Amino acid sequence: MRGLRLGVLGSGQGSNFVALAKAIERDRIPAEIVWVGSDRAEAKILEHAKKLNLPRVVCRKSNFRTKLEPEIEEELALALEKARVDLLVLAGYMRVVKDPLLRKFEGRMINIHPSLLPAFPGLRAWEQARMAGVKEAGCTVHWVNSQVDGGEILRQETVPVLAGDSAESLHGRIQEAEHRCLPQVVRGLAEGKIPWSEDPRK
Ligand code: GAR
Repeated sequence: MRGLRLGVLGSGQGSNFVALAKAIERDRIPAEIVWVGSDRAEAKILEHAKKLNLPRVVCRKSNFRTKLEPEIEEELALALEKARVDLLVLAGYMRVVKDPLLRKFEGRMINIHPSLLPAFPGLRAWEQARMAGVKEAGCTVHWVNSQVDGGEILRQETVPVLAGDSAESLHGRIQEAEHRCLPQVVRGLAEGKIPWSEDPRK
């Protein structure tokens, strides 16, 4: 089977994008990042993508804070289709995906979330975990569906919450787990070891 063509969409620092790009090289994952996009022109993920000479797309400015207008999502979907992206990876994308992007990529879109879902969906999940006093936190990679952070879980990794953790120290520990977990899922999908509802390469 041919390698998986990946699109990565992110709003922020891009550490998951960097970890994924490195893992693909280092661990010979049969996948290739062919497209990087952001809803924020100043997002660091775009700088990282530039260093790797990858095509970058910034979507038009939105009037919403938590989602995109359908027309803007349509433009993103067209760009992804033009790049023949098989799997769209949400790596720190901070808006809710709606139609038409969801309709076009459901079953071919995964997200990384910084909690052990179904616990603590939504924003600043590590802070929610810390405030709740749980002893274990972690990350989840899941399929994206219309429920926010609610799609089928593909992989989770647990990390301890330590006495004296700040929001930043806990998020840092969770991110180390994310940087392992996301490439592992991409490998599983690329090698057909994690089942797809419909593998786009077939
Ligand atoms: C990650 O911790 C990711 O799980 C989280 O944003 C961070 C992005 O970091 N995503 C969400 O909270 C989505 N609801 P990165 O830009 O360095 O990869």
